[in-house]
Amino acid sequence: MSATPGNPFIIVAIDGGAASGKSSTARALSERFNLLHSDTGSYYRAVTAEMLRRGASASDLSSVTAALADMKLGTRIEGRSARIEVSGRAPGDEIRSKEVNDAVSHFAAIPELRSALLAYQRGQAAAAREGGFAGLVMEGRDIGSVIFPDADFRFFLHADAAVREQRRVSQGQEDKVAERDQLDSSRKTAPLSQSQGAASIDTTLMTVAQVADQMASVISRRPAPA
Ligand code: DC
Repeated sequence: MSATPGNPFIIVAIDGGAASGKSSTARALSERFNLLHSDTGSYYRAVTAEMLRRGASASDLSSVTAALADMKLGTRIEGRSARIEVSGRAPGDEIRSKEVNDAVSHFAAIPELRSALLAYQRGQAAAAREGGFAGLVMEGRDIGSVIFPDADFRFFLHADAAVREQRRVSQGQEDKVAERDQLDSSRKTAPLSQSQGAASIDTTLMTVAQVADQMASVISRRPAPA
């Protein structure tokens, strides 16, 4: 299925805290509706890994802006995923390392870094259209509030902190999810917050399929344009 007059191009925004279930449900939706999947957390992680590689520090703004000025962001579409390339390099597993987990929220709080990623993220809608997708599903922290406030569908996922920590442990990751949420929610620029009108889903006791079903039923009920 691609976008047609009867099935117009859609943008689905999914926001929520760390390990709240965004990526797995976004992937499921991308398959059900043929949407390009854009995991913006992986973009912040890739840029953070590159900052660390270059020896930039989140507490030294000039080191961050110098690295940004020298970084070129590109996109490679793999199946239904929009993957970032940083200066021609596709990031690997290092973006899920403890070093990146510990540093990413500090870099993500820097307005200059966020604005470097803003146009890049909005540009994914054009990439989805050009790729013949029926729409875009983008997940992150500020998608429904800042990146696509006019998205056709906006969801906000929650889950108990202990369950979220456990999800990361079962993925073999060391990640202080509550600490990252605290940093992500308290920053001045584009904090993690539920935007007005976003449908809230508590995923604590739900399977990925159940969450995806709930979202899919909202999307499928969308009236066709007059
Ligand atoms: O979704 P994730 O846990 O992989 O995201 C990693 C970090 O990136 C997260 O702690 C904060 C930052 N982030 C952000 O600030 N804004 C987004 N839209 C996505 C992620």
